[in-house]
Amino acid sequence: MAERLLLLEHAADPNFATLAGYQAKGGYAGLRKALAMDRQGVIDQVKASGLRGRGGAGFPAWIKWNGIEKTKTQPHYLICNADEGEPGTFKDKQLMEQTPFLLVEGMTIAGFATQADCGYIYIRGEFIDAARAVRKAIDEAYAAGLLGKNILGTGLDFDLYIHLGAGSYECGEESALMSSLMGERGMPRLKFPHAPLPTVAGLWDRPTIINNVETYCCAPSILTNGGEWYASIGASTKNSRGTKIFSVSGHVNRPGNYEVEFGTPLAELLQMAGGMKGGALKACVPGGSSVPMIRAEAVERAIIGYEEMGEVGSMVGSGGCMFLNEHTCIVRFIWRTSLFYARESCGKCTPCREGTKWLAQILDRIVKGGGRSGDFELLQQVCSQIDGRSFCGLGDAAAWPVAGALKVFPEEFRHFIEHGKSVVDSPLREPAMV
Ligand SMILES: Cc1cc2nc3c(=O)[nH]c(=O)nc-3n(C[C@H](O)[C@H](O)[C@H](O)COP(=O)(O)O)c2cc1C
Ligand code: SF4
Repeated sequence: MAERLLLLEHAADPNFATLAGYQAKGGYAGLRKALAMDRQGVIDQVKASGLRGRGGAGFPAWIKWNGIEKTKTQPHYLICNADEGEPGTFKDKQLMEQTPFLLVEGMTIAGFATQADCGYIYIRGEFIDAARAVRKAIDEAYAAGLLGKNILGTGLDFDLYIHLGAGSYECGEESALMSSLMGERGMPRLKFPHAPLPTVAGLWDRPTIINNVETYCCAPSILTNGGEWYASIGASTKNSRGTKIFSVSGHVNRPGNYEVEFGTPLAELLQMAGGMKGGALKACVPGGSSVPMIRAEAVERAIIGYEEMGEVGSMVGSGGCMFLNEHTCIVRFIWRTSLFYARESCGKCTPCREGTKWLAQILDRIVKGGGRSGDFELLQQVCSQIDGRSFCGLGDAAAWPVAGALKVFPEEFRHFIEHGKSVVDSPLREPAMV
C-alpha cells in the first residue's frame, strides 16, 4: 500500500509542465484512446474505474458525465472547480502548478465524453502561479492542435478558458460558482429536487458538468490504462478506487501533499509526513476543516476510504489532513474554525447566517474566560439547528467540526467553561481576521 503515485509521479520534474515533457512521459495517450472510442465508451471506462469526485462529496464521476443529454440540442459546458478554499487543502494548487497538462488533457477527455463546447477553469484568485501554469499549458495545447477546432484531426472542437475567483469560500460551492462565473453575486441556487440538476440546467441554464481539479486529472490514466486497471487500485476498500492526494499539515515534520492508494491506514499517512512534531498525536482532522475531528485512538484504526473513514466518525472530504499534537487546545482550534465559517457565510439563509455567528460568539466568550453554564448544550443545539437546515453545504460544513469536537473532546469544553481556562497551558492568540 503506502504511497502510490499516479498524479504526482512526475510533479517534481519541471519538464512535466511542458507539452514536450508531458508527452515524453506518455501524456495524451489517454485522449488519443478516448477519441478512438465513442462517447459512451469513455463514460463506461470512467464507470468501470469507480472514480468518485475528489472535491469533497465523493459523488461518482460517471453518473454526472452520463447524466448529460445524449442527443445534443443546446450548448454543453464543462466546469473545473479549482477554487480550493477549504482550509487545510492545497492539492489542486500543486496539480495546477506542476502537472497542468493532466488537467487540460483530463478536461478535453471529459469534454469529448459529454459533448461540451468549452470548459471553464474557475481558479481561486490567490493562486496566481497556478493560473499562469495552466494558461501556459492551454496555450501550448492550442498551438499543437490539442485544443480548439478539429482536435487531432478528429473533428472534435473544444475550447478552454480560465476564470479567476475573488476570494470567497462560498464560490467553491458548485451552484454559487456558476452564479459567479455568470457575473452574478456568488450565492448558491436552489438544488435538486426543487430545481433541475446542473447536468440539465447549469451554467446559463445549459447542461453542465462540474468536477474538481483532481477528478479531471485522474481521467488520462484511466483512459490510458483502462477503467478496470484503475479499479484494481484501492480494491481492499468498500467503494473507493484509485488514489487520493492528502494535503498534510499541522504538527508534522514534513507537511505537504501525499498521494496514497485508498485502503492505506491513516497512521501510515502520518508516517509519510515524517511523524508528529513537538509532542504526541492528540487529534486529526482528516478531510479539510469542515469534517469532524477524530482522537488519536481513532487515527490508529482509520483506513483511508470514503466509507471506511465514516466508520471512525469522519470523512475523506477534500483531503486536507491536519494532525494536532498534545499541546493543542481543541476549544481554541474549533473557535478559529468557527470564525472562518461565520465570516464566509453568504448570509442568504437564516440557519447559517445566524447560527454561524452564534457559534463564533459562544466560543469567543468561552476562550476569553467568560463561558456560562449551559454553553456546552447551547453549542450542541445551535449545531443541530444549522446542520441539514441550511440552504447550501456551507451550513453543514460549519456545524460538523463544532459538533464533532463536542462529541470527541467534551471534557476540554466543559473544563474551559467551568474554569475559564484551557486544559492546555498556552497563550491565546487572536486570529488576524477578528
Ligand atoms: C461551501 C462549499 C465550498 C466548496 N468548495 C469547493 C472547492 O473549493 N473545490 C471543489 O472542488 N469543491 C468544492 N465544493 C464542492 C462542490 O460544491 C462540488 O461538489 C464539487 O466541485 C464537485 O466536484 P467533484 O464531484 O469532482 O468532487 C464546495 C462545497 C461547499 C458546500
Ligand atoms: S448555508 Fe445559507 S447563508 Fe450559509 S453560505 Fe449557504 S446559502 Fe449562504
